[in-house]
Amino acid sequence: MFQQLDYSGEKTKDYELLIKQLDALSTGETNQTALLANASSLLNHFLDDINWVGFYLSENEELVLGPFQGLPACIRIPFGKGVCGTAVSENKTQRIADVHQFPGHIACDGASKSEIVIPISRNNNIIGVLDIDSPIHDRFDVADQEGLEKFVTQLEKHL
Ligand code: SME
Repeated sequence: MFQQLDYSGEKTKDYELLIKQLDALSTGETNQTALLANASSLLNHFLDDINWVGFYLSENEELVLGPFQGLPACIRIPFGKGVCGTAVSENKTQRIADVHQFPGHIACDGASKSEIVIPISRNNNIIGVLDIDSPIHDRFDVADQEGLEKFVTQLEKHL
């Protein structure tokens, strides 16, 4: 089912390949837990230098932990709190070079130094976020942000 593709090392092209993999894994399936579980696995496999990747899902004004790869994490994050809750309240990707400089950052894994959080929407409602942590300072550049936002846009079509 999972095919190791020949990644080129050029981020834009490699994210395009990754999105094709996502489609191959997701087409014909509607179970949200299964789709998000495979998406987190795919990203964990593809991305270097990350220590946590997964999803939080919206429920009654808070985010609740969903499928992920990494150490056990905090289960509930109120909207507006932490990097994840801020991505929801601002409806905007948060690309944080140094999480220790982010007011209210919630440390789940002490090794995390940088983080990117992307809102996930359905019918104009934010249904959750994709959260990725790295032990490397400033791990995520603009090309990562663009690639991951496209990944989320494609994932939204399957949810
Ligand atoms: N750092 C996040 C919390 C979730 S963990 O990184 C998995 C935040 O500040 O919202």
